Amino acid sequence: MKPTGLKIIDHIAYLNGKSLVELAKEYQTPLYVIDEIGLRKTLTMYQTYFKGQHFESKIVYASKAFLTPAIAEIINEYHFYMDAVSIGDLYIASKANFPMKKIVFHGNNKQIEELEFAINQNVGLIVVDNLVELKTLTKLLQQYHHQQDILIRVNPGIDAHTHEYIQTAKFTSKFGESIYDEKVIDEMIQIIKESTYLHLQGFHAHIGSQIHELVAYNLEIEKMVSFQTKIMNLYQLDLPILNIGGGFGIKYHNDEQSLSVEEMMIGISQKLDMVLQDNKRIKKVMIEPGRSIIGPNGFTLYQCSQIKHTYGGKNYLFIDGGMTDNIRPALYGAIYECDIVNKMDMEKTLLVDVVGKCCESGDIIRKDVLIPPFETNDILIVYATGAYNYSMSSNYNNLLKPAVVMVGNKVKVISRKETLEDLMRLFK
Ligand SMILES: Cc1ncc(COP(=O)(O)O)c(C=O)c1O
Repeated sequence: MKPTGLKIIDHIAYLNGKSLVELAKEYQTPLYVIDEIGLRKTLTMYQTYFKGQHFESKIVYASKAFLTPAIAEIINEYHFYMDAVSIGDLYIASKANFPMKKIVFHGNNKQIEELEFAINQNVGLIVVDNLVELKTLTKLLQQYHHQQDILIRVNPGIDAHTHEYIQTAKFTSKFGESIYDEKVIDEMIQIIKESTYLHLQGFHAHIGSQIHELVAYNLEIEKMVSFQTKIMNLYQLDLPILNIGGGFGIKYHNDEQSLSVEEMMIGISQKLDMVLQDNKRIKKVMIEPGRSIIGPNGFTLYQCSQIKHTYGGKNYLFIDGGMTDNIRPALYGAIYECDIVNKMDMEKTLLVDVVGKCCESGDIIRKDVLIPPFETNDILIVYATGAYNYSMSSNYNNLLKPAVVMVGNKVKVISRKETLEDLMRLFK
């Protein structure tokens, strides 16, 4: 869960040669940090290991995990596709000169304005979530005389043993149409067949997040290949693309078992090869990793101001950020590991709850963790915060969004810290 570029010298943590104590001082805390060298290594791992003899691989970066123009540029350098789920994502991608033909546009409730923007930007693939959306899109495409490649998002009903809030493929899920709902699927296919503008390329499924077992993906691949093949035969269609989504788990805390990118991708590629060797009609397979690309390659630095020893016996370590920059512990009980960057490898003797500065008792970044003896201005590192931290950050209590720096051979600020004036920009 620690970034690969992290080294310890004389109890101080360094990332790619840069002292984290210095980094915190120079760029102010809280501070999001991305290990650029680690990120590039992860992208290369995906390219190397998601490969098979019987399919062409297409990797889509799930930008909801973390998106800035600098990240979009790196993703493009590695020839990945990128997903978008809102007009905001589409806008940032276009401003970053990301090739819009390589955008996969998702969302369970795309607004007309968003679909129009996608059409006008010539987005490569729109993943249609449901029947009502298909009808809306059909009308818009007619109006704009626009030819559009689409996938249909379906729900194969796989329980990926993950937390309820990040489960997306149960039959009660708000995402996609069930593969067992033959009536709805039939109506969608008839609409597509009648339209001269809709070009169905295949189906999409995403079975959850933080999935650590290959077995869930093996089951998904079997179900989806068999479903897509059935539809091709039944309706005499050519559907060359299968998108099996993302959700590959990462190790957040010490007790968590997770597969490496290499293990997961080799396993999935082997399964796809096996299932597709006699199926020459599904030619391209897409995956959509987000968290596993950016999560472990990011972390957050905070300044610690005091330990509050409560009358009830609990010790609170106060940090200068909190649920505004990392909502995941409060939202679904996520557990993170942390250290003091100026006291690495020192004996940990003090049991604390690491808490933020927001007016919420639930503003806890890590419960019950041992730290070395405390001094004011110690710098805390919370690991594996690259995904769904910055992208879920808020201004609750009018806290300012932290800066994001990317550390490779050089340090680059890829998103500046918000200012007090920024807080006023919307008010009339
Ligand atoms: C459709 C879809 N694809 C991909 C992802 C990325 O998942 P992860 O970041 O867990 O890989 C998500 C996450 O919610 C998703 O909804």
